[in-house]
Amino acid sequence: MEDTSFAIHPGKKNEIEGTNYQDVGNFISLATENERLMFKCEHGFVNVEFNTSSIVRIVMNPKTRPKMKTSPAVVKERDSVSYRVNETNEGLTVQSDELTLQIEKHPFRIKVSNNNGKTLVNETIKGLGSSATGEVVCFKDMDKNDHFYGFGEKTGFLDKKGDKLTMWNSDVYAPHNPETDPLYQSIPFFMTLRDEFAFGTFFDNTGKTFFDMRDQEGTYEFRGESGQLDYYIFAGPTMKEVLKQYTSLTGKMPLPPKWALGYHQSRYSYETEEEVRELVHNFLEKEIPVDAIYLDIHYMDGYRVFTFDNDRYPNPKKLIQDLRDQGIRVVPIVDPGVKEDPEYDIYKEGVKNDFFCKYIEGNIYFGDVWPGNSAFPDFTNEYVRNWWGEKHRFYSDLGIEGIWNDMNEPAVFNETKTMDTKVMHDNEGDPKTHRELHNLYGLMMGEATYEGMKKQLDGKRTFLLTRAGYAGVQRYGSVWTGDNRSFWEHLHLALPMCMNLGLSGVAFCGPDVGGFAHDSNGQLLARWTQFGTFTPYFRNHSAIGTARQEPWSFGEDIEEIVKNYIQLRYVWMPQLYRLFKEAHETGVPVMRPLVLEYPEDKKTFNLCDQFMIGENVIVAPIMTPDTEHRVVYLPEGNWIDYWTEERLTGGEHHLVHADIETLPIFIKENSAVAHGAIKTSTDQQEENYQIHLYKASKGKATYNVYEDDGKTFEYETGNVYENELTFTYNDNFLEVTTNRKGRYTPDWKAFTLVIHGKDQLEKVLLDGEDITSIAEEKAGNIIIPLKI
Ligand code: GLC
Repeated sequence: MEDTSFAIHPGKKNEIEGTNYQDVGNFISLATENERLMFKCEHGFVNVEFNTSSIVRIVMNPKTRPKMKTSPAVVKERDSVSYRVNETNEGLTVQSDELTLQIEKHPFRIKVSNNNGKTLVNETIKGLGSSATGEVVCFKDMDKNDHFYGFGEKTGFLDKKGDKLTMWNSDVYAPHNPETDPLYQSIPFFMTLRDEFAFGTFFDNTGKTFFDMRDQEGTYEFRGESGQLDYYIFAGPTMKEVLKQYTSLTGKMPLPPKWALGYHQSRYSYETEEEVRELVHNFLEKEIPVDAIYLDIHYMDGYRVFTFDNDRYPNPKKLIQDLRDQGIRVVPIVDPGVKEDPEYDIYKEGVKNDFFCKYIEGNIYFGDVWPGNSAFPDFTNEYVRNWWGEKHRFYSDLGIEGIWNDMNEPAVFNETKTMDTKVMHDNEGDPKTHRELHNLYGLMMGEATYEGMKKQLDGKRTFLLTRAGYAGVQRYGSVWTGDNRSFWEHLHLALPMCMNLGLSGVAFCGPDVGGFAHDSNGQLLARWTQFGTFTPYFRNHSAIGTARQEPWSFGEDIEEIVKNYIQLRYVWMPQLYRLFKEAHETGVPVMRPLVLEYPEDKKTFNLCDQFMIGENVIVAPIMTPDTEHRVVYLPEGNWIDYWTEERLTGGEHHLVHADIETLPIFIKENSAVAHGAIKTSTDQQEENYQIHLYKASKGKATYNVYEDDGKTFEYETGNVYENELTFTYNDNFLEVTTNRKGRYTPDWKAFTLVIHGKDQLEKVLLDGEDITSIAEEKAGNIIIPLKI
C-alpha cells in the first residue's frame, strides 16, 4: 500500500520530528582531566578535547559522563595540544593555535571560530540536546552563504544544502533516484564552504544518523538514533585542508597496485571457466586492454564463500595462472554470509569458535542471503577478523591478489533488508547491539579482508572493492556505487555521487560502467566508457538477465569507440597514478568537483555535470542520448581543447561539439600532464613516458613526475622516482630544469617532453644545456628527449 497514493492518505498522521527536544541546559560545573574539559550541565555531560590544534572533538551524553573511546573510524591518537582557557561567570574561551571555542554557560552553547576570526559553528537558538526516546541531536546556525559537500555516497546534486540525509548502510536494488536514501555507504562527514573559507564536521556515530541541511529558522541539524553525540570540527580553512585534516583522523588510502587502476571487466556472472577463457581471448584478439576479470557468485559451490564449484571451474589455479601470464588478474566476490551447513568447514569453524553474531540469549543470528540460511561473522572482534583474513589463503594460494566484498551492509533478504537490530556484537568485550554498530559492519569486514590479503601477499599490494563502508573505508578499499541501472540518468547521477565520495575521503571510487541492471545499449555504453576512462575506479559490470555489455556487444562502431577510450585510460595512467599518490598523501581526491579548485567562483558551487582530474584537467561527458553538443563551463584562465588544441577563454560557458567518438577534455594553459603508451594491461612495460606541456606565450609552470614499482609497499620507504620539472618561457625561449629525487629507477624505454603551443621555439635549454638542435617538430609540437 505504501507505494500507492495511500502513502499520502489525509487520515494518516504526520510524523512530527524534533518536538521533544531537550536542551542540555545550563552549565553546572567544569572539571579538567587529561587535557580534556569535562562539563556537567542540567541535562547532560559534555567533553571537549583537541585532537590536533586544528581538530576539536565535542562529545555529549545526556545521561552519564561521555565515553571517550572512539569508533574504529578514527585511527589518529590525540596529540598533546597546548591551549589556553579563560573562564568568567558567563562563559569560557578555549583557544588552540588554530581554533577558538567560546562557550556560554547559560544556556550551554559552543561557538567555534578559526584563527582568522571566522565563525565556523555557532549555536544561538538551540545547541546540544536529546530526546525522550534516546536520540542525541544538535543544531548549528546556518549562514545564507553555506554550501555543503561530502556525506559519502548520496544521490542528487553536489551541494547538499536543502537536503535531508540518512546514514544507515542499505542494500538498495530499487532504482536509485534523488530521494533514494540511504544507500550502501555511511560517511557522516561533510564540509561547509562559506564565503571562500571551509571547515569540516564529522559526526562519529555508527548507528542510524540523520542530517537535516534544510534551513530551519536559521539552523541545520544532525542527530543520532543511538549512541552519543560525538563530533569533530576541522578548522580548514580551505576545502583541501579540511580533507587533509579529516583523512589524518580517519586514515589515508594506501597506494593501490597499478593493476587496480586499469580497465576491469565483470558480469553477474561469468559462469564457467570456458566463458572466462573465451572472454579473455576476445580481449586479447581485439587488442582491448584489460587488467582484471571478476568472478561473481556463480564461481562458488552453492554460494559457499572460500570454495569453487568444481563443475563450473574444474581448475581454478591453472585458469588464474594462465590469465596472470597474459597480464590479467582474477578478482572473486566474497560475501559475509556463511551458509548454514554442518558439513561445511567455514560454518563448522565459525560455530565451534563462537565467531558468528548472536542474540544476547546466545543463539546465532541467521539471515537469508544467496546461499540460503546463513550466519554472519562478528567482525567487531579482532580474532574474528584475523580468522576471516587468514581464510583468504584459499584465494591467495591460487594466485589471487584482489577481493570484491559485497552484501556487507550486511544485506539480508527480509523486510528490514539487514540483520536484526537486536543482535549483539561482542565489540572487543564492550558488547553493543547491531542497532548501535550497524554502519560498521562493512568497514570491519573490509579491514579483515584487506589485512588478511596484505599479509599473505608478502609485500605485494592488494586490492579490495567494497560495497558497504563507514568513515575510514579508504584505508582498506575502493568503493563502487552499487546496483545502478543502464539509464542515462544514472550516468549523470554518478558524477556528483563520486565527487562527494571523493570529498568524503574516498578517492578510489566509480560506478558500474554501462549500468548494472536493465539493458544497456551502444550509445550509452560508449558515453559511459568515455566517462569511466576518468573515474578513479573503472569497471564494466552488468546483471544476470540483462543485455551483454562487454566492449564488443553493440557492433563494430561502438566497439571501436569503447576500445579507444579503454586505451586512452592507459595513455592517461601516469597522470592518474600521480594523482593517486597525491590522494594517498593528502586525502585530496583524484576526481574533483570544480569547486575544490575554484572555491571563489560561485558558478562552480553546484556544478556537477563536469569534473576535474587533478588541478588542471576538465572532463565534460555527454550524458543524454543522440546528443552531440553540450555546454561546458571553464573557470578563469585559458583552456586548451585536448583534441583540437583550440584555445578557449575561461570565466565563460562554451557550447562544445562532441560526436559519439568524442569526450570533451580541456587542459589548463600553462600546465602539464603525464601520458604513457597504449598497453594490453598495466603489466606491460612503459614504452614512452611523456610530459605534455601546454605552454602559454610567457610564464612558468611546474610538474612533479611520480613513479614507483606499482606493486610493493616500498614507496613507503622512499623507493620512488620523483622529478620536479620547471618550465620557464618567454615567447620563443624555453628553459627546462629537472630535480630528480628518490632511489627508484623507472623501467621506461623513453622519457620525453612534448611541448604544445603554436609558437615556434627558437631555443630550448635543459638544465642549462642548449638542446635546440635535438628538439624535433612533430604534428605542430616540439619533442625533447629527457633523462630519466
Ligand atoms: C549485488 C551486487 C552486484 C552483484 C550481485 C550478485 O547485487 O551489488 O554487483 O553482481 O549482488 O553477486
